[in-house]
Amino acid sequence: MSHAATPRPLSTVRATTLKGHVRVPGDKSISHRSLIFGALATGTTRIRGLLEGEDVINTARAVSALGAPAAKDGDTWIVTGRGVGGLAQPAKPIDFGNSGTGTRLMMGVIAGHPITVTMTGDASLSKRPMRRVLDPLKTMGLEIIEDRQTLPLTLRGSDALVPIVYELPVPSAQVKSAILLAGLHAAGETTIIEAEPTRDHTERMLRFFGADIRTQVKDGKTHITVKGDGELKGRDVVVPGDPSSAAFLICAALLVPGSDVTVEGVLVNETRTGLYTTLQEMGADIAFTNVREDGGEPIADIRARHATLKGVVVPAGRAPSMIDEYPVLAAVAAFAHGDTVMHGLAELKVKESDRLAATAAGLAANGVKATIEGDTLIVAGTGGKVPGGGVVATHLDHRIAMAFLTMGLASETPLTVDDTTMIATSFPEFVGLMETLGASYRSAS
Ligand code: S3P
Repeated sequence: MSHAATPRPLSTVRATTLKGHVRVPGDKSISHRSLIFGALATGTTRIRGLLEGEDVINTARAVSALGAPAAKDGDTWIVTGRGVGGLAQPAKPIDFGNSGTGTRLMMGVIAGHPITVTMTGDASLSKRPMRRVLDPLKTMGLEIIEDRQTLPLTLRGSDALVPIVYELPVPSAQVKSAILLAGLHAAGETTIIEAEPTRDHTERMLRFFGADIRTQVKDGKTHITVKGDGELKGRDVVVPGDPSSAAFLICAALLVPGSDVTVEGVLVNETRTGLYTTLQEMGADIAFTNVREDGGEPIADIRARHATLKGVVVPAGRAPSMIDEYPVLAAVAAFAHGDTVMHGLAELKVKESDRLAATAAGLAANGVKATIEGDTLIVAGTGGKVPGGGVVATHLDHRIAMAFLTMGLASETPLTVDDTTMIATSFPEFVGLMETLGASYRSAS
C-alpha cells in the first residue's frame, strides 16, 4: 500500500521522565521467516507473538496467495504448509507494500517453483535495488520477464534450480536468505560465503524446521551450506521481541532525565545487538537480565536508565549488527558530549529511504551538526542541549520517523515529523507504548 496519499504529521512534547516495564511486538525478521518457512514445511506451523505490522501482514498475504494459507486463530497465527516446492501459481500480482525483506526472501521462494509471479510494492520499495538478489537467482535458473532493476517485476521460477557457491558482494541477510531459500529447492548443496557476518535467523530457523544446513568459518569467512530437495516440518514458533523496536524505548530512556525503562523478552542474538554495545561504550546504563533461550534464539530483559553520554567511534565491522539502528543512534549521539563517528554506512543508502541523507538532514533541521564523508556519518554532540524546532522529512521511512520522535522527547523545543503513517509497517504500537512510559505527542496536521 502507498502511504503518500494521507500523511499524518506528529509533533513531540518534551518528556519529564519515562518509567515502566513494557514488551515490544515480535521481531520483524523472525516474523517474516516463520510465515515463509511455515508455508514451505509439511504440516501446520503455529506462530505466537507474530509482529502484526503491515510488512509482515503482506508476507502472510503473499504465502496465502501462493496456496499456503496463513490466518489468525485467537492469539496464534496458523500456516498450512505445502512442503518444499509445493506452492502454487497465484491468481494475481502480489503487493509487498514497503517490505524489502518480504520481497527479497519471497524471490528466493518463487525461484524454486515453476510459477510466474508479478511482484509490486509502494513508492519506496519500487526504488530499492533488486539486482543483488536477482543476479545470483538467475544463475540458479530464475527467469525475469522484462529484465528491470526494480519492482514491479515478473519472475518465472523453475523446479530444476541449479545449486551455486556464492560470495556475498554486500553484507545482506536478505540476499543470503533468498539464495538459501532457493537452495532448498535445488538438487545438491548451495553455499553462501560471507566476509562480514549478517543476521543469522534464516540459518537458525531452517535448522529448527529440520533442514540440513551447516555453518563453518574458514579463513575468517562464514560458509553456510544448505542441502536441497530436503523436507521442512511444521513447527511451533514463539517470536521474541524486536530489538530494533525496543531500541527506540531504550534510547528514549537514556535521553530523558530520571528515566528507568525495562523492555522484556527482547531478542539478543549478537548479530542484532550492535546498538546496545555502542550505547554501553558511550556510557549508557543498560543491563541485560533474565537471559534465556527460546526456539533457538537468545532472549533477555533490557533495562535502561538515563545517563550522561560521550561520543564514540563506531567501527564499520559493526554495521551489519546494527544496520537498522543508525538513525536512532544518531539521535542519541546528538545529546552526547563530543563527536560520534559512524563508519561503513554504505548500506544505509538503500534502505526504505536513503537513511544516511535523511538522518543527516533531520539532525540539521533541528540544529545538530551532522556531516557525511563518503560512507561515514559524524554527529557533533551538543552535550545535552539539542535545539529541536525543525520539521523532519521521513521519505516513507518508519525508522526515520521513530528516531526523530525519540529525539524530540528531550530536545529544547518540540520537533515535527512530516508523516507517521508508515510506522505501522514495523511497529504499530510505537506511539502507544511511548505514551505508556510517560511520553506524549500531538497531532501536527
Ligand atoms: C533484514 C535484513 C536487513 C535489515 C532489514 C531486515 C532481514 O537488510 O535492514 O530490516 O530480515 O533479513 P539487509 O540484509 O539487506 O541488510
